[in-house]
Amino acid sequence: MRLIIQENYEQLSKWAANYIARKIQLAAPTAEKPFVLGLPTGSSPLGVYKELIKLHQCGKVSFKHVITFNMDEYVGIPKEHPQSYYTFMWDNFFSHIDIPAENVNILNGNPTNLKEECARYEAKMKEVGGIDLFLGGIGPDGHIAFNEPGSSLASRTRDKELNYDTIVANSRFFENDVNKVPKLALTVGVATVMDAKEVLIIVNGLNKARALKHTVEEGVNHMWTISALQLHPKGMIVCDEHATYEL
Ligand code: GLP
Repeated sequence: MRLIIQENYEQLSKWAANYIARKIQLAAPTAEKPFVLGLPTGSSPLGVYKELIKLHQCGKVSFKHVITFNMDEYVGIPKEHPQSYYTFMWDNFFSHIDIPAENVNILNGNPTNLKEECARYEAKMKEVGGIDLFLGGIGPDGHIAFNEPGSSLASRTRDKELNYDTIVANSRFFENDVNKVPKLALTVGVATVMDAKEVLIIVNGLNKARALKHTVEEGVNHMWTISALQLHPKGMIVCDEHATYEL
């Protein structure tokens, strides 16, 4: 596992965006052989999305032959809801790049059958040849996507009840009202992320320092689901100095 430390959030975001853009360029994707990118939501990747948009606008990267899969989605709020991950992704990224809408995959948080939707999502990833690069963030408790502490490291895409800490952390997007935060989500599993050919995780801020310590210095543990990254042959973390304070 590589750990790349950048001075601050801006540098971290630039580093990650340049890395992703370069991977896409080197792959020289085509319609027949697209580049498959896994993507997260949350505040951590916002800087990366801004930088990728800039790189796109100055002609350095095209997403025409990129297929994306998002990590997770809330269950029970309409996809047009301002806080749905669908809205987040289109507002902050997809609307500003040249990705064809049909190349964007986001879990449907209002399916008729949750299990079928999760199985469909896993099957679609396989159909396109698997994820080339999964970009992710983590929660302060070390969760990846919505794989809360205690999730199996062998987990696949499924529905997951959010734990109270995550509901509180995410209530900042729901008028600081925990009652407005959905209690259930669909999420890729830890094993779904680890199946990617490469995994790049961004970790920034003091509130992630404890999680980074567990990820880097402690053993692989299902209570800190991101620690599974230690087992990935091409696992990489890019963090800012604040996140390193407990290393
Ligand atoms: C949510 C998302 C995760 C994200 C986490 C941290 O739980 N499901 O994918 O990593 O929030 O978000 P932030 O980057 O805002 O700290």
